Amino acid sequence: MRSLLKVVASMLIMIASSSFSQKFDGLALTPPMGWNSWNTFACNVDEALIRQTVDAMISSGMKDAGYEYVVIDDCWEAMERDAAGNLVADPNKFPSGMKALGDYIHSKGLKFGIHNCAGTKTCAGYPGGRGHEFQDALLYASWGIDFLKYDWCSHGTANSEETYRTMRDAIRAAGRPIVFSICEWGDTKPWEWAKDIGHLWRITGDITDCFDCEINHGTWSSWGIVKTIEMRKGIRQYAGPDHWNDPDMMEIGRGMTLNEDRSHFSLWAMLAAPLIAGNDLRNMKKEINEILINKDVIAVDQDSLGVQALKYSDNESGVEVWIKPLKNGEWAICFFNKSEQKQKIDFDWSKNYISDDVSKNTLNTKDHVYSIKDLWTKKNLGTTGKNLSADIPSHDVLMVRLMK
Ligand code: GLA
Repeated sequence: MRSLLKVVASMLIMIASSSFSQKFDGLALTPPMGWNSWNTFACNVDEALIRQTVDAMISSGMKDAGYEYVVIDDCWEAMERDAAGNLVADPNKFPSGMKALGDYIHSKGLKFGIHNCAGTKTCAGYPGGRGHEFQDALLYASWGIDFLKYDWCSHGTANSEETYRTMRDAIRAAGRPIVFSICEWGDTKPWEWAKDIGHLWRITGDITDCFDCEINHGTWSSWGIVKTIEMRKGIRQYAGPDHWNDPDMMEIGRGMTLNEDRSHFSLWAMLAAPLIAGNDLRNMKKEINEILINKDVIAVDQDSLGVQALKYSDNESGVEVWIKPLKNGEWAICFFNKSEQKQKIDFDWSKNYISDDVSKNTLNTKDHVYSIKDLWTKKNLGTTGKNLSADIPSHDVLMVRLMK
């Protein structure tokens, strides 16, 4: 009898520990979509901003287009934990408290995201999670948090994989499904180790609102759109449903030209990137709003096959061709003119037999003629039975879907 009890007890321990040691599966089968405060507001976050952003996400049509998470980035905290070691929301910025804010967000059919850091302090100097992971995860669960962005400042000599795994286990133990967004900037190649730990991982340092610049801040740089997409090569095979490469939150509506914003959105969709807007949703221009809710482009990002685009060609005139296999044998193609001049393209489908080694799909326009839809103008551009010719303005794209 005693040995039977021992066997049962050890089986229970095994079941309990195995269920604690995995992420919550299936929370991000397509790349997460939402909004994050950092790019526009940095440390100027408060309860009014978040409530107004929730309302704007609905009135702008973004919620209907699929945006879901409203994420408060750094600086929501008081400077110290309380006597029991709990994190405290800054009472001046969030007088109603995080639980009430979460209730408001949920009452509008949206989800609540928050930021903290795997190190001892956040990048802005607020209390980090190191050593408090299980306590913090319980607090987040009690607030109704659905998405946790977890940064990597002040990590000292900590090992990234172990540290993020600890927080994953803490979230699991707290019992509330939370999308876990790893933000260590690609420094320790999270694409190689984070698939079972997080649902998305940053692959690059911080983005900034320019087309192709690097802004040097001394010990670190922030990067424009082109630099961001060029920074990591050969990692598309690591992305897929529930585990995405994350090239950072979007800079659309923050000062680039409309052509550049259109390119930015198209490329993020091609890369199956999380679509996290970073602009002020409360007073964006109509043209910006229209970019952010372009359903055809979003459908490319959210395609259930979940394959990140490949860069198929890059010619001397500065036009890159990106290709993304979609479900049911369809394809998205993005001709991206990163040059300073307008460029002509004349793409001969019959000369381009495209084979993708990640999805194992091939685009064979000899055996199958596709119809071509322009995803920005919504025009039908004919079929793959003849060359696709177009002028593409500087820093703009022609993004099409090949439809069966
Ligand atoms: C890091 C992250 C940013 C933002 C800031 C906040 O730099 O990469 O996205 O969260 O911290 O301090």
